[in-house]
Amino acid sequence: MARKKIKILISAGPTREYIDPIRFISNPSSGKMGYLIAEYAKKNGFDVILVSGPTHLEPPEGVKLIKVETAKQMEKEILKNFPKVDILIMAAAVSDWRPYRKFKRKLKRKNQWALKLIPNPDILKNVSNIKKENQKIIGFALETDNILKNAIKKLKEKKIDLIIGNTPDFFGEGKKSDVFFIFKDGKVLKFKIKKEQLPPKIFELIL
Ligand code: C5P
Repeated sequence: MARKKIKILISAGPTREYIDPIRFISNPSSGKMGYLIAEYAKKNGFDVILVSGPTHLEPPEGVKLIKVETAKQMEKEILKNFPKVDILIMAAAVSDWRPYRKFKRKLKRKNQWALKLIPNPDILKNVSNIKKENQKIIGFALETDNILKNAIKKLKEKKIDLIIGNTPDFFGEGKKSDVFFIFKDGKVLKFKIKKEQLPPKIFELIL
């Protein structure tokens, strides 16, 4: 009998949080991490749904791509697709805040003014509330300092199965840097690897 295909939902890239129709706040995430994971998963026979913020990357062949811009749109797609999958990997750099309102028309130049921001939903936290026992949720924690302490805090707050902690050294390609795998049972593994080596490591450790 054929084995049931494992279904994976992956998020990638930045989100854009609009101030007016043409201006937004965002971050420099390239989306590379999530796309590399999606490509590896597809090549290894998994069904892959990729929810992606704006990037310049070509989606890997055979992957179902859902394009989004804002954190709210990303949350909607993740919550909608999560019940159908076995594993969620949140590699997106979701903006933690958005402007409290989006102005309908392009704002005119003016002197100093304050932009009020409100928090975006924590997608991982919300999705972990609807998680079934046989599903796995994996998140990333990019930290500039106290990487372990901060990553463990996020793992607990977001109630997920595994958090992968890294530093801004991980930006770009071809450079080795410290990566921590922190599991919900308290197990911690540390590797010095390149971004490209991470997807096989993830699947080796979670399956
Ligand atoms: O931004 P933060 O360091 O909390 O991100 C850690 C993890 O949480 C990442 O996996 C990211 O995709 C996810 N995240 C989320 N919703 C947010 C912010 C981050 O799911 N609003």
